[in-house]
Amino acid sequence: MSSVKYAVELNDVHKIYAMGRVKVEALRGVFLKIESGDMVAVVGPSGSGKTTLLNIIGLLDRPTKGKIYINGVDVEGLNENSRARLRLNYLGFIFQMFHLVPWLNALENVELPLMIAGIPRSVRIKRALECLRLVGLEDRVNHRPSELSGGEQQRVAIARAIANRPKIILADEPTGNLDSATGLSIVTLLKKLNEELKTTVIMVTHNMDVAKLTNRIFYIRDGVIEREEVV
Ligand SMILES: Nc1ncnc2c1ncn2[C@@H]1O[C@H](COP(=O)(O)OP(=O)(O)O)[C@@H](O)[C@H]1O
Ligand SMILES: [Mg+2]
Repeated sequence: MSSVKYAVELNDVHKIYAMGRVKVEALRGVFLKIESGDMVAVVGPSGSGKTTLLNIIGLLDRPTKGKIYINGVDVEGLNENSRARLRLNYLGFIFQMFHLVPWLNALENVELPLMIAGIPRSVRIKRALECLRLVGLEDRVNHRPSELSGGEQQRVAIARAIANRPKIILADEPTGNLDSATGLSIVTLLKKLNEELKTTVIMVTHNMDVAKLTNRIFYIRDGVIEREEVV
């Protein structure tokens, strides 16, 4: 897939969660344009719609209304199969709680998405090792998550997220479970990947020190982007 100007474009996106008879309007008309190769932060208070927004961009959830373009492609018309393929090959996910598989070691955790993508074992191991080297964990490949620090676990999660060479990394509070120094080193790593691999990075956070390491900050409140700031 060749690159277009915008990696992600959202046009008047709404999301209403129906909880029985109660409706929660999590997104109330989001307009957003993120340039290919950019690194941006989405900042806002708890409950403002950040995770909902990221899940919709990541094709993990569908909007109630509005248009989403990923690399210029209108994703509304795609069937589940195409959406899954786009997620696997085009998007990388990083979460606050790392979400590593506890009984697999670091190498096997990073191999997992490559296995799902049907990549043969020898290529897989080589690529997984490469990714672990990129995040500075070449001497931890045989460790299981419980044998790693929080920061190291998040590095494994980042290696896993980049294993399929995604165009876009989506990170939901990636530093939320780490002390501030470790958190900053994780964002510095994401910045390095953004610069060296030209991966677009979209990071949700409520930590301004973390947000300021990106190029652009979108402020979200009550389900709308209130303003945008170039750092
Ligand atoms: N699956 C869900 N069902 C119902 N309401 C939800 C669901 N997920 C989130 N919400 C509600 O939507 C709003 C936005 O939530 P969320 O996107 O998780 O915000 P943030 O990540 O900024 O804390 C909140 O009011 C939350 O309670
Ligand atoms: Mg959230």
